[in-house]
Formats: sequence, structure tokens, C-alpha cells
Amino acid sequence: MTKTQESWGSRVGLVLAMAGNAVGLGNFLRFPVQAIQNGGGSFMIPYLVCFLLMGIPLLYVEWAMGRFGGQKGDHSTPFIFNSFDKRKFWKYLGVFGIFTNIAVAAYYCYLESWALNYAWSSITGAFSGMSADQVSSHFNTYVGLESSGPIICWIICLLLNTWILSKGLSGGIEIVAKVLMPLLILFGIFLAIMGITLKGGSQGAIFDGTVGLNFLWTPDFSTIWNPKVWLAAAGQIFFTLSLGMGSIHCYASYMKKDEDIALNAMSAGWMNEFVEVVLGGAIIIPIAVGYLGIEKVVELTQSGGLGLGFRVLPFLFEQWGTVLAMICGLFWFGLLFFAGITSSLAMGTPFMGFLKDEFNWKRETSAWFFGLVVFVLGLPCVFFFAEGVFDEYDYWAGTVSLVVFALAEIILFAWFFGMDKGFEEINRGADMKIPPVFKFIIKYVTTIFLLFVFVGSLINPEGGDWAGSWNSLSSGAGWPLSDGSILGQLMNQGVHRQIDSATDQAVADGLRTKLTYINGSRFLLLGLYLAICAMVYVAYQKRLKLSKP
Ligand code: PHE
Repeated sequence: MTKTQESWGSRVGLVLAMAGNAVGLGNFLRFPVQAIQNGGGSFMIPYLVCFLLMGIPLLYVEWAMGRFGGQKGDHSTPFIFNSFDKRKFWKYLGVFGIFTNIAVAAYYCYLESWALNYAWSSITGAFSGMSADQVSSHFNTYVGLESSGPIICWIICLLLNTWILSKGLSGGIEIVAKVLMPLLILFGIFLAIMGITLKGGSQGAIFDGTVGLNFLWTPDFSTIWNPKVWLAAAGQIFFTLSLGMGSIHCYASYMKKDEDIALNAMSAGWMNEFVEVVLGGAIIIPIAVGYLGIEKVVELTQSGGLGLGFRVLPFLFEQWGTVLAMICGLFWFGLLFFAGITSSLAMGTPFMGFLKDEFNWKRETSAWFFGLVVFVLGLPCVFFFAEGVFDEYDYWAGTVSLVVFALAEIILFAWFFGMDKGFEEINRGADMKIPPVFKFIIKYVTTIFLLFVFVGSLINPEGGDWAGSWNSLSSGAGWPLSDGSILGQLMNQGVHRQIDSATDQAVADGLRTKLTYINGSRFLLLGLYLAICAMVYVAYQKRLKLSKP
């Protein structure tokens, strides 16, 4: 093991890089879709509660764990976990903190490359004169790979990511974050103003921009106790803050021993929330609702998911005239690309840190190796997008793994390492006093909250109807699992149901093929996890040998 000399160049650089890590496609694409799917106003209260009781505590824990591990020369979670508790299994749970980053990068970089391509199409006026349907189906032809453009863009994106990573922290990531984050915020403010000031009755819009904003911001208490909404809110908090991934640990591991965590973690975390809730909430929602109405937008999010920003916005921008359409298209897709790249860079660092620490690889070699692995793992995602590989990666790596890993880390930190030492560690060098109540919150509230989220997602019942499901269980009729619950997904319940009810043989065959791809992607992901475990095992044996006299 070599002690890496790398570190952040400045405090501003660290905070912006951490904010860049958090601010991503999740803020602009995932957040609005989640909010709309979960009833707008009824989503925001659980969302804010999850931020305060789960997001902030976990930020503190992850920053502190990272800085602690970094002092011992560990920059990836298998060995950061090991420095907190020597029991062997922690290392293999820590593997999640490398695995998730690689698997998420495999589909995330592809998504990022759509933004690059669409930014280019906006500047060259490719959407001008297209009807709404044409713009929407352009997206289908895009992901259907009817031309080579998407693949070229994807490879450019991968190369760019890898190249920046090979330049290191202060010479690559930090510079990129310092330039792109302010630009992104400027673009976002411009587009948010366009969204908020949208006038119904002009330029083809039916409603004012405020209609969409009211949908998001008028508290709705009618569904506040629905666990489905809570699970969605918790999932969004994880994804947007990059929690449960291992990338925050890795960034924090390059901090100095007594560098502040209390204030830095809050600056990056709150910056992410500003960008998500204020900017991310004021672009797609008011513009799409202004033109299409709430019902249509809700319908689109049920089927379209992340594609919404690509399917509808270019057409809506066109209604503002050629010049504004070009500017807004460039700003919107440029902003998505900037948000994406500062996040995907963060995903590269844990694996690179691991290779450098344990196998003495050079930074450049580690970066290119990361790029290669992401390329190979991304291939099925790009070529079999329609078969559901992309969604499968997103579900297992981008959703389930985060909760499992977060649960592991909080138990390790608060219960094994101990909250007294833990709180001291968080507070060392602090520029701001953290209220002592956080000690209690981290140990009990966050842990229990996470357990609920995990068990809830595992066995989430059909239609989110918990009361009805208990009745069903106690009357001996069994637990009606929802298709979207972890167990339901694992058993492919939804697809099997569709196959059973398909009247057309061809449709059923199509679904069976889809099933093969879904299972295939799971094997790939499992294979990746096991491969990293094997590397950790080898690294550990090496360490044991070195420590013997
Ligand atoms: N937080 C990022 C987003 O909102 C996603 C991400 C997850 C980035 C994990 C890095 C690591 O898009």
C-alpha cells in the first residue's frame, strides 16, 4: 500500500467538487419526475423530512468516514470500512462502494451523452419545424440506435471522463467543477426564470408557469402517510445527494486531517438542494405543465420516466422562436451535460483509489482501466436499451444498492465504531457547531428510518396498501407483493404477469426475450460485484503478507 500524495487544491475546490458530485441528472431529470409521479405537493413534505433526518446525518457520516479512512491511506470503502472495524465481512460490504459507482457510471455516462447530442442538435436547429410527435419520436429513434450518432457521442463522453480523471483531483476534477458548477447555476437560473414567467395564452402555452409551481408547492396532506411516497422521497434523497455510493467517502478521503466537515458538508449538501428544489423544480414542471396541463404531464411521467426532458422540452422551446429555442436548448442540455459529467467523474474515483492504494497502479492507468470497464459494462446498456438493461442497472445499482450500503455504513459507524467516537470524528476541526442532538438522530432516528426504508422497499405491497395487506396476510391469503418491490422485481413478478395475460403469442415471446436480457444484466452486475470481492481478497492477502515481519 502506498500513501497517495494527492489532495484537494483548495476549500472552494473541495466544496464545488462535492457539490458537482451531488448535483447531477438526478436534480433536473429524476426529481421533477418523482415529484410529479408522487402527487407534487404531497411529495415535498416527505422529501424535506428525508433530507433533514436521513440526508444530513448520512452526509456527516460519509464525510467523516472518508476523512478518517484517508488518514490511514485508504481511499475506497472496502478498506475504509476495514479501518473502522476489523471483522472481515465489512470489507465485502464495502465492495458496494466501488461496485455501485461502476455500475451506475455504465448507464449514467450514456444518459450524459444524450445531453451532449441534444445540445448539439439544439445549436444546429435540428428540432426547428418539428411537430411535438416528431420531437418525441426523435428520442425513440435516438435510443433505438438508428444512426451512429448516439454511439459516437457515448464514446466521446467516456473518453472525456477518462481523460479528466487521468488528470487527477486538483488538476482535473477540481478545475472542471470550478468552471462548470457556476455555469450550470447560471444556465439553471435563466431557464427557471423562463419557466416561472411563462404566460398562458401566449406562444402556445395554455397555463401560466405558476400552475406547475403551485402543483409542486401546495402542500397536500391527503397522501402524506402513504409509504410509497416516502419510499420515493427517500430514494430521491439518496440518489441526488450521492449517498450510499462510496463516492463521498472517496472525495473526503483526500481531505486533510483536521479540515472542516461540519460546514463543508452542509455547503455542498444545501447547494445540491438549492439546485434541485429551486432550479430543478422550476424548469421542466412549469414549462411542461404550462403547455400540456398537469394530467398530460402526469401521464407522460408514468410512461416516459427520465426521457421527459428529452421528449418534450425541445418542442416547447421551439414555441419561443428560433433564437430563444437555440439558446434554451443549448442551456438546458448543456446544463444537463455539465451536471452529468461532474457526477460521473465522482463515480470514477473510488475504483481508481482502490487500484492505486492496493495495486500501486498509476493514476493514468487506473483511469483508463475504469473507462474500459465502464465501456464494457455499458455496451449491453446502449445496445439493449429497449430490452430494459438500462432500467435494470438503474434499479439494482442506482436504487437498491444505495439503501443496502447506507444501512451497512450507519450500523458500522454508529453501532460498531460507536457514536461517541463517531461524533468526535465528525466534529474534529469543525467550523460550525453541530447540534449534539445529531448524535441521537444519527444513532437512532436515521438507523431506524433506513431500516424502514429497506424493509418497506423489500416487501412493498400491491398498490402501496399496507393495511389491506396485513389483513390479507392475517386471513391466510398471503402478502400481495407489488411488482416494484425488491422481492417482486427479483422474481420478475410484473413481467411474468404480463406474459400470462398476453393474448398475442408474439407479445409473449417478446416479453420472454426481455426476461432473458433482464436476467442477463443481473448476472453481469453480480459478476462485477464478485470480481471486485476477489480483488479485495487479493489485496487483503497482500496486506497480510506485508504486515508480517
Ligand atoms: N447525485 C447524482 C445525481 O443527482 C448521481 C450520483 C450518484 C453521482 C452517485 C455520483 C455518485 O445525478
